Order: sequence, then C-alpha cells, then structure tokens
Amino acid sequence: MSVTAFGHAGHKITTASLREHKLRREPISCLTAYDYSAARIVDEAGVEMVLVGDSLAQTVLGYENTLSVTMDEMLHHVKAVRRGVKNALLIADMPYGSYQVDPKDAVRNAARFVKEGGAEIVKIEGGEKRAELVRRIINAEIPVAGHIGLTPQSVNVMGGYKVQGKDLSGIEQLRRDADALDRAGVSCLFLEGVPREVASIITAEVGTPTIGIGAGPDCDGQVLVFHDILNLTFGHSADEESYHLPKDTKASLDSLLANPPTRYSSWQVLPTRKVNGNGDHVAAD
Ligand code: KIV
Repeated sequence: MSVTAFGHAGHKITTASLREHKLRREPISCLTAYDYSAARIVDEAGVEMVLVGDSLAQTVLGYENTLSVTMDEMLHHVKAVRRGVKNALLIADMPYGSYQVDPKDAVRNAARFVKEGGAEIVKIEGGEKRAELVRRIINAEIPVAGHIGLTPQSVNVMGGYKVQGKDLSGIEQLRRDADALDRAGVSCLFLEGVPREVASIITAEVGTPTIGIGAGPDCDGQVLVFHDILNLTFGHSADEESYHLPKDTKASLDSLLANPPTRYSSWQVLPTRKVNGNGDHVAAD
C-alpha cells in the first residue's frame, strides 16, 4: 500500500467559517471518519467538518450501542484521524460518562481531546440541561458542538431510538434546547431524528449553524456516517430502507463526495440510519 503526501490545497475551516457558511447560506457537509485513510478521503474531498463520532462504538468496535465506548478508545481514533485531516474542522465526540457525571471531569476530558488528540471542537449530547456545561467548556477555550433530538447516549431513557419532537410539548422542548445551547455559545448544533418542519423552524431561530441527520433538507448542513454510505453496517442499517446505494461502493462514495452542489443535494435527500427493526427508524421527513 502506498501513501501519498497531502496533495490538496483548499482552505482551513474554522468555527468562524461555519457561521459565515450559515450567513451566506452555503451548506455545510460533515462526515464521520474513524481512521487515517477515511480521514484523508473525506478531507481531500473538501468536506467542511470531520466528526470522530462515538458511532465508532458500533461501526468499528462492534459494540451493541454507543454507551460502552471509552475516552481512551475515542482518543485513539481521534489521534489517527488528526493525522489525516488538514483543512476540515475536526470534531471529537465526547463518549457517554465522560461529561455527564462531574463538570470538572468533563472539562478535563474535553481538554484531553484537544491536547492529546488534536481535536478543534468537542460534541456533547443534550439540550438546555447542558447549557451550563457548554459555558464551562468554552471558558476553558474549547469550542463545543451541541447535539439534540434523537441522542443515542440517551437510548435507555428514550426507550429506544425514537424520533423526537413529534407532539407539541416535544417541539417546544426542542426549541428551548436549541435556544439554550445557542445562547451558551455552541459553534454548531447537530439535529438528529427530528421532523423536517421542526428542524426548519429551529434552523431559522438560532444563529448557530444546524447540521442535520434524519432532520430533513432544510438544515444549514448535513452529516452522514461514513460506514452507512458504504453500506458497511452488517444489518444495523443496511436494509431496504437504508441508502439504496449501488453495489459498487467506490462509485457511490465518489458520487457522495462529488463537488459541493452535487454533494449537498444528494445528501439532503438521504434518509438517516435505520436504527432498529421495530418501526422506530429515523426518516428524513
Ligand atoms: O456519533 C456519530 O456518528 C454522531 C452523528 C450521527 C451525528 O453523533
């Protein structure tokens, strides 16, 4: 196997550039990557954000859900991805247990991702109840991405992977969550498993860019899980309601990483992951 030197020009994406994208209405693309080679493919395609998601618990490590993955396991992958990313903004997902228990531990763990892993921003799940923690992490000079709606680390509390915001009180809660995180200063806000209309309202209401997965086409950006677009999911989501990608995964990866206008329009119509078989899957509309 040969490894070529970084060959692409492009410009460095920062948290400030994300806001400019939203102001200019230029869609933001984000893909997960968990290792060096995927990081290079995604970065060199010009994707704006690379997320080392805790979804690696399932996609790479074979755990049942995201709850088991540890800080050290996440850090191992963040370091590998760091070596492959030049221009994209590198986001590290804080795993379950690394920020829910003690705010001091949360800041310490966030700082490990920056200091040891080279991450530029950390992501935490949860809405208004996390606003104070978001402020504390930002006070430690670490930008934060929010993540609301279907938050996989809350699977046991939600009673499954369920679309959120399906009734009036759920919608109001999501709007409060988005507003609280926006005021706390998040650099972007992931909306997962949220009805299209609700995602559209939140996107118009907050100043921070929204990045959707299973939240319809009206968010400021879209995020996809790398293994999903390759159908490398071993039954978790690769079924008839998944992406319907051609058998030639190289061709489908190339088309999904095409130039930005093609990429955004094809990503916007993709459904998100099919998370279980009992009808609680997350549809884009
Ligand atoms: O871990 C992950 O891949 C994520 C995305 C689905 C947003 O959190």
